[in-house]
Amino acid sequence: MTHVIKTFDEYRQAWKKSVEDPEGFWAEQAETFQWHKKWDKVLEWNFQDPDVKWFINGKLNITENALDRHLDTRGDKVAILWEPNDPNAMVREYTYRELYHEVNKMANALKAKGIGKGDRVCFYMPMVPELAIGVLATARIGAIHSVVFAGFSAQALADRINDSDCKMVITSDYNHRGAKNIPVKKIVDDALEMGCPTIKTVIVHKNTGDDIAWNEGLDVWWHEVMEGQPDTCPAEVMDAEDPLFILYTSGSTGKPKGVLHTIGGYMVYAEYSFRNVFQYEDGDTYWCTADVGWITGHTYIIYGPLLAGAKTMMFEGVPTYPDAGRFWQVCEKHQVNQFYTAPTAIRALMAQGDEWVEGYDLSSIKVLGSVGEPINEEAWNWYNEVVGKKNAPIADTWWQTETGGILITTLPGVTDQKPTYACYPLPGVQPILVDAEGNELEGNNVEGLLCMKFPWPSILRTTWGDHERCRSTYFSMYDGLYFTGDGAKRDADGRYRIIGRVDDVINVSGHRMGTAEVENAINEHENVIESAVVGYPHNIKGQGIYAYVITDHNVSDLDKFAKELRAVVTREIGPIAKPDRIQVVSGLPKTRSGKIMRRILRKVAAHDLDSLGDTSTLLNPEVVEEIIEGSEKPV
Ligand code: WTA
Repeated sequence: MTHVIKTFDEYRQAWKKSVEDPEGFWAEQAETFQWHKKWDKVLEWNFQDPDVKWFINGKLNITENALDRHLDTRGDKVAILWEPNDPNAMVREYTYRELYHEVNKMANALKAKGIGKGDRVCFYMPMVPELAIGVLATARIGAIHSVVFAGFSAQALADRINDSDCKMVITSDYNHRGAKNIPVKKIVDDALEMGCPTIKTVIVHKNTGDDIAWNEGLDVWWHEVMEGQPDTCPAEVMDAEDPLFILYTSGSTGKPKGVLHTIGGYMVYAEYSFRNVFQYEDGDTYWCTADVGWITGHTYIIYGPLLAGAKTMMFEGVPTYPDAGRFWQVCEKHQVNQFYTAPTAIRALMAQGDEWVEGYDLSSIKVLGSVGEPINEEAWNWYNEVVGKKNAPIADTWWQTETGGILITTLPGVTDQKPTYACYPLPGVQPILVDAEGNELEGNNVEGLLCMKFPWPSILRTTWGDHERCRSTYFSMYDGLYFTGDGAKRDADGRYRIIGRVDDVINVSGHRMGTAEVENAINEHENVIESAVVGYPHNIKGQGIYAYVITDHNVSDLDKFAKELRAVVTREIGPIAKPDRIQVVSGLPKTRSGKIMRRILRKVAAHDLDSLGDTSTLLNPEVVEEIIEGSEKPV
């Protein structure tokens, strides 16, 4: 383990070194891991193809670094602490040794079921320790995991399974979620019924024990496949650039794409960023409230903490069950030292009132983290004052599924902090702001498009099955740069503030969604001719979903129609993509070349009518008035 940055000066030096000698800098970090064979060369890259390789010809297995490596030094310390949905149900703990054996048993079970190196295994599971065990077992045998958030619909699950030809799905019978039980196995059954020809096995973890339908020949119980398996399994020796996982994420166009991360670089960056950002110290209890279905859960619940030998908590429940004090009750119960959550949760809890926080002793908290969307000043202040009592610095961490790990953040207690600013690039990260033509905006006090000019170890390598899509999405916009899709500002002292997406991606409660994806879902309704979806400011969710819809006849019962539309979107994508507001319109504002003028639709949705700009060049300027009028009463 290398030194953790402790002062602003050390941060500056580390960053400088990482820019002047990136290969030397990252080799030093990588040296601290277990390799079967060291790399021949640290880095080869170009952003044109793109082609990025770290630790070339290095051989390793990430689970040996997350588990085996810790057995002598901390085998009996807790690796995963699990807090169930029901506050009165039993907490589960796995020491590093116990986790090691469970992962090894599962690795053997996967092999027994025909899974081998390079095969894809899909996970559709609640937040239970078995999810982490399964993911690590997959990595142990060199297979590739694709975790799908268990809030996506059967259709969305089937699409993801088929895009990467998964051989197996691992799921649970039901998922506890607040007061509800969600039939996740049934959703898997529905997905398979839609046609997933590559799936040979479904492993079912018994979670609630409620009845489920059983497909003989396909389904097997988790506890049965584990039974009798040896509790050690040799780790498959992998190349540093072999795939580790696929994670689907939304973009401006088309279906979600499978972002691919590879083993060596991801491992080094996940561990390095975890230790530095959270300033984790031995004996601390760290809690990230994300779901493993998103990148935050991959890197900062499972891989980063376990690689660093930390005690990481997994929480099965939701922030408001049984009441709005749940997060703080859990922090007190487990004496949480680092707490990492999303602005949408902060805003939702803030709206419930301070009394839900005040009853709990939060003095153990040393670091507060924020992720997933811009944090507004009010939420930042509340987090700082009411939760942190001004004693716990906030790490506002900016990053993406594609970046694999945090790229821009305050380092709590190390660098200074400024509300709503993510602040500084981590060592190894070289941000650059450009204007729309791609010219670099030099100096400070500038605002532009956020790009990266040099690779960091956990940058995505490709999008599954479609490298051209990776190139055109991220590397073709500005020659030689990785384009993030975000706009940002650099203040007088070089701190970055992320403003938000500049493309057709919206961020609803920290969930990334493509407007085209939601439109495609809406268009599945038989009476919809065309639709346009935009985001609008929402005080809890950050952004809400506003849908403008053209129908093939006059809709008489608007409420019924809206209900049907929401049901269609829930069916196609999942409840997280349901439009908050729906407005039936007779036309959409279009340019003379037939492109929808989203800028106008965004302004109308935000009730920002003073700066609509010139609408006279539109093909159908008359439609704008009608849309403005109708926007007063969307459903
Ligand atoms: C947004 C989540 C402002 C941003 C880790 C980015 C943020 C997208 C922040 C990626 C932050 C994430 N401040 N915006 N601290 N963190 N974002 O792939 O727009 O789910 O491009 O990764 O979330 O979302 P993703």
